[in-house]
Amino acid sequence: MTNRQQELGDTSPEEFRRQLHELADWIADFRQNLGSLRVAPNEKPGAIMSALASKPPEEGEPFEKILSDVDRLIVPGMVHWSHPMFLGYFGWTTTAPAILGEIITAPLNVNAMTWRTCPAATELETVVIDWLRDWIGLSEQFDGVIYDTASVGIMHALAVAREEVAPETRKLGLSDRGLPRLRVYTSDQAHSSAEKAAIALGLGEENVQRVPTDANFCMDTVALRQMIVRDGRESLKPLAVIATVGTTSTASVDPVPEIVRICRENTMWLHIDGAYGAGFAILPETKWLTNGWREADSIVVNPHKSLFVPLDFSVLYVRDLERLRRVFTLVPEYLRGDTVEVQKNYMDYGIQLGRRFRALKAWVIFRSFGRDEMAARLREFVRLANLFADWIKRDNRFELGAPVSMGVVCFRFVGSVAGGVEGGPTSAPSATIEDQLDQLNSEVVERINASGRAYLTQTKLRGRTVMRIGLGNVLTAEEHLRAAWEMIQETVTKL
Ligand SMILES: Cc1ncc(COP(=O)(O)O)c(C=O)c1O
Repeated sequence: MTNRQQELGDTSPEEFRRQLHELADWIADFRQNLGSLRVAPNEKPGAIMSALASKPPEEGEPFEKILSDVDRLIVPGMVHWSHPMFLGYFGWTTTAPAILGEIITAPLNVNAMTWRTCPAATELETVVIDWLRDWIGLSEQFDGVIYDTASVGIMHALAVAREEVAPETRKLGLSDRGLPRLRVYTSDQAHSSAEKAAIALGLGEENVQRVPTDANFCMDTVALRQMIVRDGRESLKPLAVIATVGTTSTASVDPVPEIVRICRENTMWLHIDGAYGAGFAILPETKWLTNGWREADSIVVNPHKSLFVPLDFSVLYVRDLERLRRVFTLVPEYLRGDTVEVQKNYMDYGIQLGRRFRALKAWVIFRSFGRDEMAARLREFVRLANLFADWIKRDNRFELGAPVSMGVVCFRFVGSVAGGVEGGPTSAPSATIEDQLDQLNSEVVERINASGRAYLTQTKLRGRTVMRIGLGNVLTAEEHLRAAWEMIQETVTKL
């Protein structure tokens, strides 16, 4: 062999071992010092790109140089979702076991498209799906598949619903068949993935009808019934209801048992979006969350939101999973030899062929924590959320924007006296005052985020801007929450 040929291939084992040790230290240091970093950068768009090489490298560079650029250019340009002061979105986290799981996954380089292309990945996927089903108390009539996200899960669920209402859509498509317009109903608090799915499936964004919610942001089922009747009169065909267990803004929970009845009466598919909330069903004290689930057709759970698995990891459960397989199975000739066994081939359960080995990281995390430790952590998030809400209630410049649910608290600065800003009315603030308060609440979030000391989100409830925190990060403790609360109080005082 020539020298050049010897140089091809991969890094030498000795060199690779040295790099891995260096990386292990880097990861451990990063986790240890995370709390001292800015939570979010305050750069202008494009600043990071302008510091990166614009031309691709002609020659290879040493790992040390690449890693030092990660430190210099990438880490400071990140929003650190794992930072203890990151309280945005659902406060999602990574954990040490999760990082170990990701590291083990990398060298295995699996493609879990069929059982034969990786028996262990396929069978572990089934095991992890079963464990999760067991933990959240879902009936064994449900079986599942791991996707990247809930948005992809809902799209697959609605594709099956569509096939049941409009048979042979898989084969013939929707056009030129004289089919009625198909309607999907979901609350005005539900996630926009409903519309995205309707766009992808050719159902049309406008055919996702938003049902009003009650004072607690839960779907108003009287309104739902009325909308179905109204659509029926106009020869529009009800296809599905998406009920949410843990809505994006307030983590409110729709009345699933009543929605089940409506779906059965109207022969509609019931999809439960438990992307955030379903994980909390592992707590015995919140088992009520699962009321009505066994009657659903599909349910999506995102362990990457509430069960300590880092992005991405979402499970779609379908009652009688064969219904999903029938819509998506398609075996091209070149895969026929790899699909002869009767075992599950997960490529049959979705549009994706090549599939990452997502089950492994979840398996490492679930085994490292066990149900008890996961439940204890979720319980702590609920405790912290309620504690934060108590602080808000005790400061009359603020009010809660919605009932506290799971790890989510929405709140609003309302002025120096309850009910209005200084000089304004105390009972019914006028539109201009409310507009000013909107701006102020938004400004508080912007300032705190720009400070790099904490990260919150803002949302709109009934048209008004509220601040919002989501607890879900294993590193966030009471001291961090208190520091964030003091920061909020200081910022409104300054403003
Ligand atoms: C209730 C709910 N459903 C679905 C989604 C979409 O999740 P994903 O990012 O996994 O697609 C979100 C995202 O925040 C959500 O809050």
